Amino acid sequence: MKEDQYILAIETSCDETAVAIVKNETELITNIVASQIESHKRFGGVVPEIASRHHIEQMTITLEEALDDAGMTLDDMDAIAVTEGPGLVGALLVGVNAAKSIAFAKQKPLVGVHHIAGHIYANRLEKEFEFPLLSLVVSGGHTELVLMREHGSFEIIGETRDDAAGEAYDKVARTLKLPYPGGPQIDRLAQEGEETIDFPRAWLEDGSYDFSFSGLKSAVINRLHKANQRDEYLKPEDVAASFQASVVDVLSTKAFRAAEEYGVKQMIVAGGVAANKGLRAALQKKFKDSKTELLIPPLHLCTDNAAMIAAAGAVAYNQGHRAGWDLNANPGLDLELFGARKK
Ligand code: KG4
Ligand code: ZN
Repeated sequence: MKEDQYILAIETSCDETAVAIVKNETELITNIVASQIESHKRFGGVVPEIASRHHIEQMTITLEEALDDAGMTLDDMDAIAVTEGPGLVGALLVGVNAAKSIAFAKQKPLVGVHHIAGHIYANRLEKEFEFPLLSLVVSGGHTELVLMREHGSFEIIGETRDDAAGEAYDKVARTLKLPYPGGPQIDRLAQEGEETIDFPRAWLEDGSYDFSFSGLKSAVINRLHKANQRDEYLKPEDVAASFQASVVDVLSTKAFRAAEEYGVKQMIVAGGVAANKGLRAALQKKFKDSKTELLIPPLHLCTDNAAMIAAAGAVAYNQGHRAGWDLNANPGLDLELFGARKK
């Protein structure tokens, strides 16, 4: 009988220090996330230098907590996986060096993981993948439609030409003077508001699966400035609802059209913005009678965590991918190239 396999993963690409253990590719054993949000709030966004320092402080504590929670030791692990990119270089370096140190000290294989591959694979902790599948990746740094024909292979069929969806949320939230991170705040306000303002939707040229959110972001900011100059009161709930309606309309419509065109078995939603109530509801409605199965991860697997890195890392490990001792943080790591280099 094949022995159980345990992968320990580390994620430090942005403002969460996270360690998780996954058994046999899909079974979550522990998932510890130390968030730094409180430290970055007063600056209205993530300050890279502060993020790196926090990762250094939290790294060993988080690792110990994960092992304690699992009742396991590093010797029980089959491999160590780590986010090597994309993300903030100083933040990534902390995780990469921690993973290298553990792997070297314990003589365990080391696996580098692409952060977005992780977001996608978070879904596999809930439900087995069926190919071909499409993933709508919506995070603070990425907005992409990714086609997967098999494990570990990623083809980007559409992506944002400017701001990521989460970035637009955070910038609009800042203009509305809402605390960081703004996405959940706007989402909450939007539930209480009405779509009273007709903000633009960037459909782009016919058939394109690319996205653009900077025009929408500017339209919201301009409308708020204009209201300010005229002493006109705009209900923040209505601004949030109108902005969210535009984002959700474009994301869900393009995702559905792509699913039909590519005849995929599953549509997988991934990344922090997958936590958005409006987006979840719109996608559920669109895919209700579709042959394509819609998978949306539970909230704790939407935002950054290491369980997703362990899930993607386990697949990379079983496909034979190994990183050397020269593994480095790669802030601009390309998803398609990451998938291709394993074969
Ligand atoms: O995936 P993630 O945790 O980090 C990155 O890899 O970027 O995504 C963070 C982004 C932030 O922009 C945050 O505002 C957004 O996800 N976000 C949301 C919601 N929850 C988090 N955006 C809209 N609605 C939400 N409920
Ligand atoms: Zn992320």
